[in-house]
Amino acid sequence: MTFVDLSNKLSFSYASGKIILVGEHAVVYGSQAIAFPLEQGLRIAIYPLKNPLKDQGPLLKAANLLETDIYFSKKDQKFGAFYDVLEYLLSVFGEQIRNLAIIIDTNILPARGLGSSASLSVALIKALYQYFNWPLSQDLLINHAEKLETIFHMRPSGIDHTVIIKNKPIAFKKIDNKLNTWDIKQGCDLTFVIASMDAHIGTKNAVNKLSYQLSKHTQTYTRIFGEIDLIAKDLELAIIDGYKVRIGELMNVAQGYLNSLGVSCESLEKLCFIARNSGALGAKLTGAGGGGSIIALSDGNAEEIKNSFLAYGYQAFISTTKVL
Ligand code: MEV
Repeated sequence: MTFVDLSNKLSFSYASGKIILVGEHAVVYGSQAIAFPLEQGLRIAIYPLKNPLKDQGPLLKAANLLETDIYFSKKDQKFGAFYDVLEYLLSVFGEQIRNLAIIIDTNILPARGLGSSASLSVALIKALYQYFNWPLSQDLLINHAEKLETIFHMRPSGIDHTVIIKNKPIAFKKIDNKLNTWDIKQGCDLTFVIASMDAHIGTKNAVNKLSYQLSKHTQTYTRIFGEIDLIAKDLELAIIDGYKVRIGELMNVAQGYLNSLGVSCESLEKLCFIARNSGALGAKLTGAGGGGSIIALSDGNAEEIKNSFLAYGYQAFISTTKVL
């Protein structure tokens, strides 16, 4: 094993979280979806380990994500996916990553439908390419992020890491593995309040559960995916026109369909009603569902909506996407 002298090197990267305005789950089956980046995100710092020979890194430290630090050499099944991620990084960057400490700081809680694994995947690749001074194109970044997301979720549609990498509102549609994604130019600033409950059952499990339901009710579910695709097209026009009331109403309709697909739950429905009763223009779950988070579209009343969530004991924060 050869160790390069990496002293005095340091690299940082950042990747945002994401919200899905319409099309989660249906996007896996070819419906159009729309996603926005969040203002909040995840930061990574990479630097050389002090005692690489002794410590046998890489060391993964993520105080608000993992209960303990992970040394690659000390395998613990509890962190299965993280080891597979490190294994992948080793295959890309070689033995030199054993010398590294990778420090993660995030305010995107995992398993809340806010793109935690995708932002981790994107930030890791960006930080390591920067650390080794390797050139990184957007296509290459998407390619690596897809591999890492596959470790986390088995068969991701790709919407999470794509919106995070593009860092702007996008429409996303994948048919027969052919990806179409395009930017959406907003007609007005949009401010969302995001409220979270407990972690969901995991994106992989939620997608598998839906796939089982689909096998039992193929025609019904396929029709619903078609309706969600139409809502996404309407919603895209409403976003371009800056027609906030219509965006909110379409979000409510999308939530109805998500409920009928079985990916909502009592607490998520309750969160949506808290939002609407507090003056939100619309509210729906975001991401895998079955737990996690909802997004509420505000109309100059974001603080009020956020305070309602807090009063009910939920976590909440505000994110604005401005017209570019
Ligand atoms: C997860 O953020 C979105 C899902 O549609 C899964 C995917 O698209 O890979 C539930």
